[in-house]
Amino acid sequence: MGVLIGVDVGTGGVRALAVDADSGEVVAEAGSGYPLASPRPGWSEQDPGDWWHATTDALRALAARVEDEILGIGLTGQMHGSVFLDGADHVIRPALLWNDQRTARQCREISERVGVERLIAISGNPALTGFQAPKILWLREEEPENYARLSRILLPKDYIRLMLTGEYATDASDASGTLLLDVKRRDWSPEILDALEIDRSWLPEVFEGPEKTGTLRREAAEQTNLPAGIPVAAGGGDNAAAAVGVGVVREGILSSSVGTSGVLFAHTGTFTPDPSGRVHAFCHAVPGAYHLMGVTLSAGGSLSWWREKLGRDFDELVEAASGVEPGAEGLLFLPYLSGERTPHLDPGARGAFVGLTIRHGVEHMTRALMEGVVFSLRDSLEILRSLGVGVEEIRATGGGARSPLWRSLQADIYEEEIVRTTSDEGPAYGAALLAGVASGVYGDVAEAVSRVRLRGEVTRPDPERARLYTEYYRIYRTLYEANREAMHALTQLAGGG
Ligand code: XUL
Repeated sequence: MGVLIGVDVGTGGVRALAVDADSGEVVAEAGSGYPLASPRPGWSEQDPGDWWHATTDALRALAARVEDEILGIGLTGQMHGSVFLDGADHVIRPALLWNDQRTARQCREISERVGVERLIAISGNPALTGFQAPKILWLREEEPENYARLSRILLPKDYIRLMLTGEYATDASDASGTLLLDVKRRDWSPEILDALEIDRSWLPEVFEGPEKTGTLRREAAEQTNLPAGIPVAAGGGDNAAAAVGVGVVREGILSSSVGTSGVLFAHTGTFTPDPSGRVHAFCHAVPGAYHLMGVTLSAGGSLSWWREKLGRDFDELVEAASGVEPGAEGLLFLPYLSGERTPHLDPGARGAFVGLTIRHGVEHMTRALMEGVVFSLRDSLEILRSLGVGVEEIRATGGGARSPLWRSLQADIYEEEIVRTTSDEGPAYGAALLAGVASGVYGDVAEAVSRVRLRGEVTRPDPERARLYTEYYRIYRTLYEANREAMHALTQLAGGG
């Protein structure tokens, strides 16, 4: 039948997959990385040119591994990033990423101009530092010479789309992460744009995830060794695309992702924002559908930080942590290394180990770190439950889905069974399925998702460990409030807010 390509413009690098359209099996994969810059505390930037080079590298490598006909491409990527372009489509400055925390002041300004309740009612979210709108205000206020050149604003995967197809387009799920979308209507909100004085013509057209947004243009075909003229699907933000990739397309099925960020994602048939804005209410990459999601900013990112600072190997660290007792002998970790979204919505939150003694070694600290990340995700699960989200099944996705320890921590700390699909490449796989609809191989997303296969193995909670973790979670829950003032004072002293 042919293959479908999914491209994920992630935070660590680009992943490209080729999926057999008939069987749904991954037949080839390729990746290419790039750096992340943090020029000041709380700042997080990348060069969109690096994304493009990594995309062409990954696609060329993929093309060399694929023999069958290539039927289409679907795009996904890290959400919320701001790609600022001038009138000639040149990148004006490095993109501010999803975990950038510099815009606390602009968030207050947005809340005042639009009104907090109105903002949540329209955009499904309060003003959050990582989202795109406050970054536009930041550019206006802090870099007026760059702002004066602004002609277009795109999200990360949509910049790659522009390079591939020449089209300015986005999809409703990713557009939901800008704060500028009327999420219920699935189009830009004139009310918010007016209040923030943002020009509608700077924004791309909004499509549904499986819609076609142009075709691969000749120059890009030459750079990637892919056939010119193949359709490119709108795709989705990485979490919505990952949800498609693991079959989270109806109520009752949730996904739990441990990637750089950690995400608990629930499909909803209607737009039901959390009135207090603790979890995001966004469009899904499934036409007409929505989702709720809680985000831990530093999930796998906490473990990467730990590994880098220690100069150790991942597998070695995680294996040592597997041998430590649950609860790490009385040690807890707060994973707020980049501030936190769910549940605290606090760019000034900071990370901590609490309970250290001379008995504790690196292996205890690694275990506490991983447990702290999952406690933070449990915060999201508790909020989703309190909003009436039913939980029939949780599917693991992200890099953490491959690790037995991450899976068993999720099962024990959520007290739910954790199921796994055959492809752990959630976002890129979901994007490839969406490309299948855009290229006419599948009739709709439901048919595309029928290709998703579950593995036989299920990770079940262990009652004894689950009971112990409930005790630890109760203590974990008290730590943020108890330390908030000190965290904020330290953030200020360090000049980060
Ligand atoms: C979601 C979010 C992250 C990024 C990471 O709101 O900020 O999950 O999409 O890729």
